[in-house]
Amino acid sequence: MAKKRTLFECQACGFQSPRWMGKCTGCGEWETMVELSTEQIKFLKETATASSARPASKAKPITQIGEDNIIRFSSGSRELDLVLGGGIVPGSLTLIGGSPGIGKSTLLLKIAGNLAQRSQKVLYVSGEESAGQIKMRANRLNANHDQLYLLPEINLQSVLTEIINESYKFIVIDSIQTLYSDTTPSAPGSVTQVRTITFELMRIAKSLHIPIFIIGHITKDGSIAGPRVLEHMVDTVLYFEGDTNSELRLLRGFKNRFGSTNEVGIFEMNKEGLNDAKSMAGKFFDKEKLQSGSALTVIMEGSRPIIVEVQALVSESYGHPKRSSTGFDNNRLTMLLALLEKKLDLPLGTYDVFINISGGIKVNEPSADLAIIAAILSSYRDRELSTETLFIGEVSLTGEIREVSGLTQRLKEIQTQGFTKAVIPNKPIETTKIKCFIADEVSKVMEWM
Ligand SMILES: Nc1ncnc2c1ncn2[C@@H]1O[C@H](COP(=O)(O)OP(=O)(O)OP(=O)(O)O)[C@@H](O)[C@H]1O
Ligand SMILES: [Mg+2]
Ligand SMILES: [Zn+2]
Repeated sequence: MAKKRTLFECQACGFQSPRWMGKCTGCGEWETMVELSTEQIKFLKETATASSARPASKAKPITQIGEDNIIRFSSGSRELDLVLGGGIVPGSLTLIGGSPGIGKSTLLLKIAGNLAQRSQKVLYVSGEESAGQIKMRANRLNANHDQLYLLPEINLQSVLTEIINESYKFIVIDSIQTLYSDTTPSAPGSVTQVRTITFELMRIAKSLHIPIFIIGHITKDGSIAGPRVLEHMVDTVLYFEGDTNSELRLLRGFKNRFGSTNEVGIFEMNKEGLNDAKSMAGKFFDKEKLQSGSALTVIMEGSRPIIVEVQALVSESYGHPKRSSTGFDNNRLTMLLALLEKKLDLPLGTYDVFINISGGIKVNEPSADLAIIAAILSSYRDRELSTETLFIGEVSLTGEIREVSGLTQRLKEIQTQGFTKAVIPNKPIETTKIKCFIADEVSKVMEWM
């Protein structure tokens, strides 16, 4: 008798192996390998042979190929259009991810409503909520329009039938993890299901030239629950950022086959839904409430400068010192702390250090280094910083403070928002009304605090 074939599949990245392993060699996740049933292995084998049996299509010289003419259309939201690179691309598949309650359904229902209002036929598929629940939200968002169709459904084949039979101009799937395909013998949300469904949606989006937006839930480590594979398959991946305590939400491009991923959409949550933020002024800090351990900086989000507050808590450690940051890279924090120990002789090795960026924003550029250092020093010495001063600069391993891009633009924003002073690494090219203090080395920061 032939030996039973075993196959394990990582539920995070889809990596397959004949042996079980504690840590997936594909993505490095622990305890994600799940044994596939005989039925599932048979299915994989069949789909593999089915695709290899198809006649090959003919390749053509690139010089004979015409360019795709992309005609985008507006989503009715300036901010969403911006992150998408100038509007929605027909036939594209976009994934929107974010933690529970952040506003994924709210944003897409509003967009669906915007388009329906302009007489575009729109389909909103929900496997999460009943039609009545969605109706309630639509009332609140002012998204009640004739051309917006709701389909509470979790079966992929039924969804596809609806899409093929009607002529929709825009489709929302809420969410990918709740759909299941009849053809795949795995549980909804599993890597095989998500892969099959995404593949089918991609195929129908491309062939019927309809843009499809897919909502995906995010796990605590920030990836789309289960499959990373999803990110590879779709055209565009956008992630929501922001904490549910603040009304601001950022939508960041992570991948975009039709545009850059530089821009960030900024929205405000209120009872009428998630709307384009009118002004970012003062949204990420409260000047009146700055305490010791707080420092202000201005970061660039795409082409826009935003002032954010960096908070540090430095407290004596009992046992192994903890380092933890929210909204800032932990490795970078460790580096900055090591530098402060070495250059300023601070005994930080016996202190716990916590960093938080207010408003749930994630700082991805090094220009906030100087503000992180200023906040740490402020907390360590328990001395408030001037509420008039902002800190801008990238810190190198040698303790040098480096130039940052767009310095003039940042200083102008500081001026617009009524601040008067800034600690910066070099003399700005253009003069502003801001009084600038130059700190080109970590050791000099103390002088200006
Ligand atoms: N009446 C209301 N007024 C103001 N804000 C509201 C109201 N009702 C809901 N919200 C906001 O909407 C958020 C929920 O948004 P939404 O359901 O779109 O999130 P989601 O990302 O789709 O979540 P899930 O992952 O649970 O589906 C709530 O966290 C809350 O901030
Ligand atoms: Mg939702
Ligand atoms: Zn894996």
